[in-house]
Amino acid sequence: MKEKITILDKRTIEVNLPSVDGYERIAMESSASFAKIGGLARDRIEDLKTAVSEACLNAMEHGNKGLPEARVVVNMHLGHKNFRVWVKDEGNEIPHIPSTIDIRRKVERLEPPGGLGLYLIQQLVDRVDFSEEADGGHVIEMVLKMDNQTTPYPLDENQTQTAMGGAR
Ligand SMILES: Nc1ncnc2c1ncn2[C@@H]1O[C@H](COP(=O)(O)OP(=O)(O)OP(=O)(O)O)[C@@H](O)[C@H]1O
Ligand SMILES: [Mg+2]
Repeated sequence: MKEKITILDKRTIEVNLPSVDGYERIAMESSASFAKIGGLARDRIEDLKTAVSEACLNAMEHGNKGLPEARVVVNMHLGHKNFRVWVKDEGNEIPHIPSTIDIRRKVERLEPPGGLGLYLIQQLVDRVDFSEEADGGHVIEMVLKMDNQTTPYPLDENQTQTAMGGAR
């Protein structure tokens, strides 16, 4: 179990959503805008959008059991080498990521539909990890590597203010 540490700095943003169908697009578009500011390559932004959207849908549907009042909290951190996203729900299950999926059998309906989200996420990001938070809830962490990207925005001076006394 990991200690929840929230950093509030110029390189971190948070989007807090109810579990309402369609609102995953808010997190998806926010992640794209933020990654664009950080200079993430265009094709990787498309990967990021799909991964964030699938993770938010899972958080709403499976973690929060579709209860609209249950929140999904998405934190994003624009590092110098990584773009990191945490999607937190109010559940406590650690799902199993399938190592392979026979897409052809799915398309041809020889296997039940669904069960593609986690597989897709794993294919699209450089690292994915699940954990339970000390204060309750389940988090999926997704990391996309960046090649020492620079941003035209003044993000680096007087940078770190920690909300709970730590740093990632
Ligand atoms: N945030 C979560 N909390 C609890 N269980 C989860 C979570 N995310 C995924 N799971 C579990 O892992 C399974 C696989 O998730 P995955 O996204 O691959 O497929 P799906 O959501 O069932 O279907 P699809 O994403 O293709 O519409 C889910 O059916 C669910 O049991
Ligand atoms: Mg899913």
